[in-house]
Amino acid sequence: MEWPRAVSRFATFVERRLGLAPVPNGGRELEALLAEKSARTSLEAYLDRLESAGPQDAELRVLAERLTVGETYFFRHQAQLQALVGEVLPQVQRGGKPARVLSAGCSSGEEAYSVAILSRENPLVEPERLFITGVDVNPRAIERARRARYAAWSLRSCPEALRERWFHTLPSGDFEPRPSARERVVFEERNLLEEDPVFWAPGSFDVILCRNVTLHFTAEVTRAVIARLERALTPGGVLLLGPSETPRGFSESFEVLQAGEAFYHRRRTAPAPSGPPEPPPLAVRAPRAAEASASVPSAWSPKPSSHEPPGMDGAWRLLEEERYAEAQAWLEQLPEADREQSSARLLRAVLHFQSGHFPEAERVAESLVATGRAEAAVYYLLGLCREQAGDDGGARHRYARAVHLEPTFALGHLRLGILARRAREAMPARVALRLALTLLAHEQPLHLTLFGGGFGRHGLMQVCQQELRACAEVP
Ligand SMILES: C[S@@+](CC[C@H](N)C(=O)[O-])C[C@H]1O[C@@H](n2cnc3c(N)ncnc32)[C@H](O)[C@@H]1O
Repeated sequence: MEWPRAVSRFATFVERRLGLAPVPNGGRELEALLAEKSARTSLEAYLDRLESAGPQDAELRVLAERLTVGETYFFRHQAQLQALVGEVLPQVQRGGKPARVLSAGCSSGEEAYSVAILSRENPLVEPERLFITGVDVNPRAIERARRARYAAWSLRSCPEALRERWFHTLPSGDFEPRPSARERVVFEERNLLEEDPVFWAPGSFDVILCRNVTLHFTAEVTRAVIARLERALTPGGVLLLGPSETPRGFSESFEVLQAGEAFYHRRRTAPAPSGPPEPPPLAVRAPRAAEASASVPSAWSPKPSSHEPPGMDGAWRLLEEERYAEAQAWLEQLPEADREQSSARLLRAVLHFQSGHFPEAERVAESLVATGRAEAAVYYLLGLCREQAGDDGGARHRYARAVHLEPTFALGHLRLGILARRAREAMPARVALRLALTLLAHEQPLHLTLFGGGFGRHGLMQVCQQELRACAEVP
């Protein structure tokens, strides 16, 4: 069998059974995987066997493990989770009813535990009538969710007070949610594409979170999955999607609701009214990498530079939407010369950092410093890497350099303030945090995207205020 035909058959299989859309220039990963998998047998035999595999087939599970993107962290899109526990769950539980919550595409469990923890924090939610189920197609992710041991990186957006209240620190330095945060949460391995009339029975859930999952799917798969989730939701039930996902164009059955900065979708109890369509509530799905590479002017683009590869703007946008694999694929398809431009190297460093490859992130950022033209963001990233290495002194030095180069860099002041507070230096901590609070209102969107840890402007301002309050406790 010819190689290109085998690759295309393999890609079609992955799309049909796992839903994963082909990533432009991500074919190389699929090719490498196919080469590895078919090393001991003929291509034809491997693909034939795969195509007849049942839902629980070991090979399909291995592919799910290798090909899915499991990026997640505690309290991701926190404004939306606050709306869930502050408004939606108390309403569902009114009249003594239980609230059944599904985290569909739960990865290693951070999302499900975040809902449990925030619910425990909110006196309006009754914990004994809350039931949270997390499902994911990746067996390794489900194993990790059940084991519930998390590195500090998974808690990067977790306010310190919550960390202290809800997590044990293990001797290894990892964190484990306390039993009261775990007792209402169960996990199971499940493919959202596989029919199961019992699990997906109509009205089985009051709330479904399916965040940052459909953005890896083709439109056809997204439509089918949204239809399944819609049926499984009780009428009036709520669907929470990621910031770049929407049911619009896939289903008429949801109305959009806003709570503060967050949006969610309520399954209508009556058919949609005819008339003009709802205004788009969410960020429109960003262009796929191929479109992104056609230079799209954008209001929020970083400092424009004549030395930027074309399409850089779209690549930052992919990052904003946490479509890391696509941003990586975009980088890889750049011609060598473009790949070495400063902005492309910064993107590479940030992607390494986002995937937890801190030494690589640091190496790429240092290579930018060596050019003598590193901007504040590069020093900030180096500061984050030093913090990860446990070198707070080195981190402070890098953050200081970042705010020296760009005095209005709010996040630089914020990290300086947090580190000073940790070092029990109350006065410099207060000065830096107050400055950060003022500057955050005007922080560049790019900085928030790259380094805000998913918090958003408002969330970061809250962090600043919490830190200022904590300063008052420093003797
Ligand atoms: C980017 S993570 C999102 C995790 C979490 N919802 C969040 O927003 O932080 C996407 C998850 O969806 C899962 N996933 C992808 N395709 C799936 C499918 N067909 N069925 C179930 N889970 C799937 C992946 O394994 C991955 O863990």
